[in-house]
This record gives sequence, C-alpha cells and structure tokens, in this order.
Amino acid sequence: MQNALLGLSTHTVPLSGETDFAGWRDAARRLALSGVRPEDVAWIVGSGAPEEVSLPNPPAGSQLTVPREFVDRAETLICHFDPERFALLYRMLWRMRGEPALLKIASDPDIRRFEAMEKSVRRDIHKMRAFVRFRKIGEAEDECYVAWFEPEHFIVERNAAFFVRRFTGMRWSILTPYLCAHWDTAELTFTSGADKRDAPTDDAAEELWLTYYENIFNPARLKTKAMQKEMPKKYWRNLPEASLIQALVAGADSAAKEMIEKMPTAPAPHHATVQAKHWPAGSTSPSEIDSAHATSIGELRESAKSCRLCPLWRDATQTVFGEGPDNPQVVFVGEQPGDQEDIAGRPFVGPAGKIFDAVLDEAEIDRRKTYVTNAVKHFKFEPRGKRRIHSKPNAGEVQACRWWLDKELALTKPDLVVALGATAALSLLGKAIPITRMRGQVVTRDDGLRIFLTIHPSFILRIPDANDKEAERARFLDDIREVKKLMTA
Ligand code: URA
Repeated sequence: MQNALLGLSTHTVPLSGETDFAGWRDAARRLALSGVRPEDVAWIVGSGAPEEVSLPNPPAGSQLTVPREFVDRAETLICHFDPERFALLYRMLWRMRGEPALLKIASDPDIRRFEAMEKSVRRDIHKMRAFVRFRKIGEAEDECYVAWFEPEHFIVERNAAFFVRRFTGMRWSILTPYLCAHWDTAELTFTSGADKRDAPTDDAAEELWLTYYENIFNPARLKTKAMQKEMPKKYWRNLPEASLIQALVAGADSAAKEMIEKMPTAPAPHHATVQAKHWPAGSTSPSEIDSAHATSIGELRESAKSCRLCPLWRDATQTVFGEGPDNPQVVFVGEQPGDQEDIAGRPFVGPAGKIFDAVLDEAEIDRRKTYVTNAVKHFKFEPRGKRRIHSKPNAGEVQACRWWLDKELALTKPDLVVALGATAALSLLGKAIPITRMRGQVVTRDDGLRIFLTIHPSFILRIPDANDKEAERARFLDDIREVKKLMTA
C-alpha cells in the first residue's frame, strides 16, 4: 500500500503471523524486483496490519538470485522476537543484489546483528528441546501429556516436528504464552497462547522423572557455572528436577571419585574370554582371514572378528565392526571405537555416539538406514591408572585397517560417504586433510565416490566453554543437514 497521506512512498506489508516466512519472502522478492528501497517498507504483523494491500508487480521476466544459505538462515532468523527482523532481512536481501558475498563479511554491522540474532534463536530452540517437561493428565484413552514452556522467541512451530518425532505415540500439548502445539498421535495443530495456570503442575510421573534425573546426573562433569549458563534459573521453576540440584551439587565431589573407581579397567573384564573365542591357540596368521569372498556385511563382520592386521587387537576387547543395512542411504566413517564401543562391540554408542545420534535425529536422518563404521576397528588406548585413555591411531594402523573399510564400501556401494574427522578422511582419501578448513565440502574420489568432510563429534565434547560448545554443535548440525540434502540430491 502506498502511504500517500503522509506524502511518503512507504509500502506497508502485512504478514499473517510472527513466523510468516513465506509471506515475507514473497513480498520481499516483489519489492526488491520493483526497486523499492528498504527505508520505504514497513512490515506489520497482526492487528495493526491494513486489510487490503497491493504490492508492486515486478517487471516481467525480472529475476532475483540470492544464496540458498541466506534463505535457509533467514527462515531461522524470522523466529526472533525483535520486530525489526523483517526489515533487517529485507535490507540484507536488497544489499545482496550488489554484494553477493555479503554473508561472508563478518565485520559488517548487519551481518553481526544477523549472526547474533540467529545464535539466540538456535539457543532457544535447543533450550526448548532440553527443558520441556511433560506431565500426565487423564487416564486410559484420555491420557495426555502437557508441558508449559516460556520461549524467548517464536520457535514453537519450528520445534514442533522435533517433539512429534520424539513422542510420536503420545498425545501431548506444549503450552506457551504465544502459541500452543498439540499432537494427537496423527495430526499436529496449533492454537493461540495459553496461561501458565492452564498447565498441570504435578503428577505421578514426576517422581519417576526425579529418580531418573538423579541417576543420569554425572558428577564428574559438574561445572556449576556452566550448568547455570546451560540451564538458566528462569527455566528452573518449570523443572521438577530443579529441587534436586542443590543436594546433588553438594554431594558431587565424593560421587565423582566413586564414579572414577567404577570406570572400565584395562583391559575390559571380558577381554580374555572374547579373545580366546576368536583366536584359539595356534590360529595366528592374518592370511587366514578369508573375507575376500564375503558376499554380505554379515559375513565380512564374522571374518573381521579374528583380524590381526595390526597389533591393536592385542589390548582391545574385540573388533568393533560397522553396523547398518547392506544397502544404506549413506555411510558414516568415524575414527576408532572408544572405551564404551570396545566393550559393547558396536560403533558410536558412547558419549560421541550420543551427540551423533541426537544430531542425526535433528537433521531427520534415520540412523537405521545408514551404515556407521570406523576407519580403525580396534580401540587404541593408553592405560592411566584404572582408566583407558583414547589414543589416536597412527598412519600404519589406519592403512592396515583400510583393507576392511574398502571391503565395507565395496559391499554397501554407497553414493555418499561422510568422513567424521581427520582419521576417517585420511583413510578414505589417502592423505592428511585439514578438516577445519575443508569441512562442509564434498571431495569426489577417482572411483567417483563422493566424500563429505566434517568434524568428529568428539571434538564438540572437548570444548570447555558452553557457548562455544553449542555453536560448534550447531555447525555440526548444519553439516549433517547438508548431508541430508546430498542424500536426496
Ligand atoms: N569415536 C569413533 O570414531 N567411533 C566410535 O565408534 C566411537 C567414538
């Protein structure tokens, strides 16, 4: 609408809701193609919006091209509570016509603001996933789970799919002051905001949850400051477990010592039994590994149990072979099994595996349809007291184990392989790759196999600062989302 009364050429653009990204995108496209400057546009949501509006029609055949990355990130940013976000995005879109690399100029004030706002939205999305607590109401067919949450930004629609995936078989509602999401096990609906008094405050399940929290509380990882940063006090009032925190923190020191005592020893207790089973006395030669004729991953895994291609078999409990279907959508390659994987005999089930699983879940990749393996199939460690400390495999060990990885790839015939970290990249590409510089890129091997490069999830575990850790996790999630796109490309 032209604001002729004020004598200004202001275009007022109504949006249908706080997160009306499609409406913003359509209007922004038409305005930019029609040459309407950012300072001549006002973006209005809800009741203040004019009923009728006519946007300019861009000249026939005109086209606007912006980086895909901008569109994706703008969709996140639109969830920010700041009413200025629509104008900021339009100004960036406008500028990008002449400055296509604008997103890379970290010192630009618009980019700095954009990045800070995006980070804040992502953090809020993460907090909602971590701190929503359902309480049961009703019995039998009336059973339903209700949660109250107070997000900082307009993230409920954006997060709803995550809760649908996590709690598909439950009927639930998440109530927030601006919007409520409801899932009836088949359909997702939204209603307007609610009052905290609409949410139940206690139930029988709460006691169970408290016991669970007490058990998952890891005193060895306790960093009170970081914990408060991660779980700001404003969330505590809605969390049943907050009542336990003081007592748990007070007992953390002695609990941590006790936990270290209980840690796996070197070697793992069933090391000797497992080894005796796969290497009966006298059968020592690597040439006895007859996997050349394996026609399935199952057969290959069987042969690998007695692998002695490098000396790592001596101290490890068992071979940790790849896991997944024979015809996976994608293959993920890590470095080597860790302490917990060595004991369980399965890849990525320990702390790095937990991050890996959660990120795959958020990127909507079903791990059961992927094949997950490691460049090196035995745990390499150094004993320190009773603990086994991860030790990086050397180039010779990687080279020896490549024999198995090549066979896994020959049998699974993937279109895409993801190298999680430098060791995987070395094994897959045969040379040292600077992962931090090359992450997010696809390298096509001479045999045509596409290798996507990213970090190893344990890198995230080692970052001490909570904010940095979260930022790195978000970057890893972005990488895995890119993998998802490549899987379907
Ligand atoms: N790190 C890896 O590289 N692989 C695993 O299986 C676990 C941790």
